[in-house]
Amino acid sequence: MTHTPDPNSPGPDSPERAQADFTRSLSYGDYLHLDTLLSAHQPLTGAHDEHLFIAVHHVSEVWLHLINVELRAAMRALEAGVVDAPLKGLTRVVRALEQLTQAWEVLKTMTPADYLQFRGAFGAASGFQSANYRTMEFLLGNRHAALLRPHAHRPDLHAPLSADFHAPSLYDLALRLLAERGLPIPDEVLHRDRTRPPTPHPEVLAAWLTVYRDPERSWDLYELAEKLLDVEDNFRRWRYNHLTTVERTIGFKTGSGGTSGAGYLRRALETVLFPELWQVRTEL
Ligand code: HEM
Repeated sequence: MTHTPDPNSPGPDSPERAQADFTRSLSYGDYLHLDTLLSAHQPLTGAHDEHLFIAVHHVSEVWLHLINVELRAAMRALEAGVVDAPLKGLTRVVRALEQLTQAWEVLKTMTPADYLQFRGAFGAASGFQSANYRTMEFLLGNRHAALLRPHAHRPDLHAPLSADFHAPSLYDLALRLLAERGLPIPDEVLHRDRTRPPTPHPEVLAAWLTVYRDPERSWDLYELAEKLLDVEDNFRRWRYNHLTTVERTIGFKTGSGGTSGAGYLRRALETVLFPELWQVRTEL
C-alpha cells in the first residue's frame, strides 16, 4: 500500500516549519537594518524614474563601499608581505566592478525626457562628490588635490579621505613588495610624491619585465600584476559605460557637479592607474 501525504499536514519542507518568533532573536530585516537602508530612498519629485535613479546610485554606493573594504584588506596584507589573500580580495573587487558596470544597463532604460522630469530637484549634487568613489580612486592611486575640495564641508568625510590621499596606494604597496623581493625599485619611486598619480618609470618597467619574462620564478608577483590589470581593466569599463550613459541622457550639457560633463568624463578615460603593467606588454 502506498502512502499518500496529507496535503493539509505541514511536512518537513513546509514554510510552517520556519522560525516565526523574533521576540528574542534578530530577524532578517533587523540584522540588515533594512528600515534604515530603505528609508534613504526618498525621491524629491513624483517622477516615476527618480526611483530608478536613486536605486542605481544606492546600489552603486554599496558596491563601492564593499570594494573599499576589500582594497583596504588587500593593502594591509600586501604591506605585511602576503600575496595570496590579496589575490582573493582583488578577485572580489574585479567581480564587484562588474556588478557596478552592469548597473548602467538598468539605468539606460531611462530616457532623456524621463530624466528631465526630476533633474531640477537635485541641484548641484553629482557622483563627483561621492566620498566612496573618491576613496576607491585614492586607494587605487588616482590622486588630484582638487578632488578633495567638494568634501570640505564634511570633516567626517574629508579627514579619512585626506588620510588616504597621503598614504601609499595599492600600486605603491605592490612596488614596495617588488623591492622587498630583491627587484631594483629606485628610492625616488618608493618615496614618491603620493599626492599625484604615478608617472611611469623605466626601472619599474624593468622590474615588471623581470617578473613577466620568467613567471615561474615569482609566480605570486606575476599573478598579482595580472590581478591589478584586471582591476584597472574593469574600472575602465565602468568609466566608459558611465560616459556613454551620460551622453545618451544629457548629451553635452555641463554636469550637475559643475564640470564640462561628457568632456570631463572622456578625459578621465585616459587615466592610467598602473602604467608599467600596460607598458610591459609592449616590451615583452
Ligand atoms: C543618468 C545618470 C547620470 C548622469 C547624467 C551622470 C552625469 C555625470 C556627470 C556629468 C559627471 C561629471 C561631474 C559633474 O557632475 O559635473 C558625473 C560624475 C560622476 N558620476 Fe555620474 N551620472 C549619472 C549616473 C551616475 C551613477 C548611477 C553613478 C554611480 C555611483 C555615478 C557616479 C559618478 C561619479 C563617481 C562621478 C565622478 C567621476 C570622476 O570624477 O571621474 N553617476 N556624472
